Amino acid sequence: MGAAPNVIVLADPDALAETAAQLVADVAAEAVDARGRFSLVLAGGATPRATYARLAQPPFRDRVAWERTWIFFGDERAVPPEHPESNYRMAFEALLARVPVPPAQVFRIRAEAEDTDAAAAEYARTLGEAFGTRRGALPRFDLVLLGLGVDGHTASLFPGSPVVREVFRAVAAVHAAAAVIPERITLTLPALNAAARVAFLVAGPEKAKVVRAVLGEQASLPAALVRPEDGALVWLLDRAAAALLPGPEAR
Ligand code: 6PG
Repeated sequence: MGAAPNVIVLADPDALAETAAQLVADVAAEAVDARGRFSLVLAGGATPRATYARLAQPPFRDRVAWERTWIFFGDERAVPPEHPESNYRMAFEALLARVPVPPAQVFRIRAEAEDTDAAAAEYARTLGEAFGTRRGALPRFDLVLLGLGVDGHTASLFPGSPVVREVFRAVAAVHAAAAVIPERITLTLPALNAAARVAFLVAGPEKAKVVRAVLGEQASLPAALVRPEDGALVWLLDRAAAALLPGPEAR
């Protein structure tokens, strides 16, 4: 089990987006300095859109070395990339179309494929090639952004899903009966927990209960199992999402 999370509470969703964009820019600079490139995993859902939009504006648009940035995705719904529910589409519209990241360095998950198991295996191979890892070895992302669902899911790791217990594969196909688009492909806990840094972005009063559960008593929810083994974990919350946390965090 990795280090305890660093919980940061921001005044509102705009402040959350600003802090998250700052974090991306800082980690990017550090990674490019150290290794010449920056690997970033984008989250889906609605919450990160404001962060992506902020990253596409000055000063972040000009501060991040986009030509040295490699973009991956934490999960994808089984829809084509132009579909309104596509995580890739959201990230493309808010960020990727607006910054000079080379298209060859953007690795979307082809979850629209008929055979999602094969598409998951293909994404695992893509990761292996991008990171030059040996077969079976996990990539070490510089930064993974994640969201939190009201049921405690993150990426497409849903409570009760057998994929939450995956110990070997980096990528898996998922059937999430409760989700609007039930077929999905997701990074697994071993892949998330091999990252150098993971940041949850969570906003809104509807998330307050699950934030308390994940950071408090319900350590078995999928989001609570994200604990980078040799990396850092930060939770960026707006005040509404942090409202039910005990102590000073609920400022
Ligand atoms: C997805 C996501 C998922 C998301 C949460 C929170 O594809 O649905 O990656 O894990 O981050 O459901 O979503 P919101 O930000 O929309 O609440």
